[in-house]
Amino acid sequence: MKKHIRIEPSILSGDFGRLADEAKRLEDAGADSIHVDIMDGHFVPNLTLGPRATDAINRATSLFLDLHLMIYNPFDYVEKFIEAGADRITFHFEATEDVDDTIAFIRRCGCKAGLAFRPETSFAMVQKYITEIDLVLLMTVSPGFGGQNFMPEMLEKIRLTREYCDRNRIRQGGIYAQPELNLESLPPFDIQVDGGINLETGRQCVEAGANVLVSGNHLFSQPDLKKAIAALRSSV
Ligand code: DX5
Ligand code: ZN
Repeated sequence: MKKHIRIEPSILSGDFGRLADEAKRLEDAGADSIHVDIMDGHFVPNLTLGPRATDAINRATSLFLDLHLMIYNPFDYVEKFIEAGADRITFHFEATEDVDDTIAFIRRCGCKAGLAFRPETSFAMVQKYITEIDLVLLMTVSPGFGGQNFMPEMLEKIRLTREYCDRNRIRQGGIYAQPELNLESLPPFDIQVDGGINLETGRQCVEAGANVLVSGNHLFSQPDLKKAIAALRSSV
């Protein structure tokens, strides 16, 4: 399991006046990808970046670009964000009536599709979509701002999600593993956590079954980003 843990720093906690430099800095520091938080001021009470800033980040790095859309009607923005360089688009279950169409459209455009869940949304909804998506994002804070405290009650949702995947032999990409295949030989289904992730909470999430860790304030508040990423990696 350990070799499948990925560290995805959130550039939301970086310096917005130097986004391209921050992207390069993350690449040099050993990040596995860059998490870009897109907020519309409606779905969440904060505004951040759009396609042009995403494009600037993309041009500065060859890292995988992981977009977390906290916007209503994500379908309408899929093409713009793919043009801007998104490698995966994760949108919120709570932000649209067209969850199925939006997933299908993202995939049809050749991009990976993730589905995010607010803390208060039940595991039953996660279960409903898991085999249609490439990644599930379980929010461990209420979406909208970096620097919030981790919600320990979310560990149960992570556990339920990992157990469900294991019990049903669901592996990376939402694919059912054939009964004759050894489960351990296939990469696990991607369960991403986002919000308040540090050495302690990251370890708890990985123990519960998460394998993709987003971290903003914890990483960017340290003087040496490379050491901070390495420490988070080795703590889990
Ligand atoms: C919150 C965002 C997060 C945020 C995480 O709505 O989705 O990605 O940047 O930041 P920290 O790690 O500071 O909680
Ligand atoms: Zn995020």
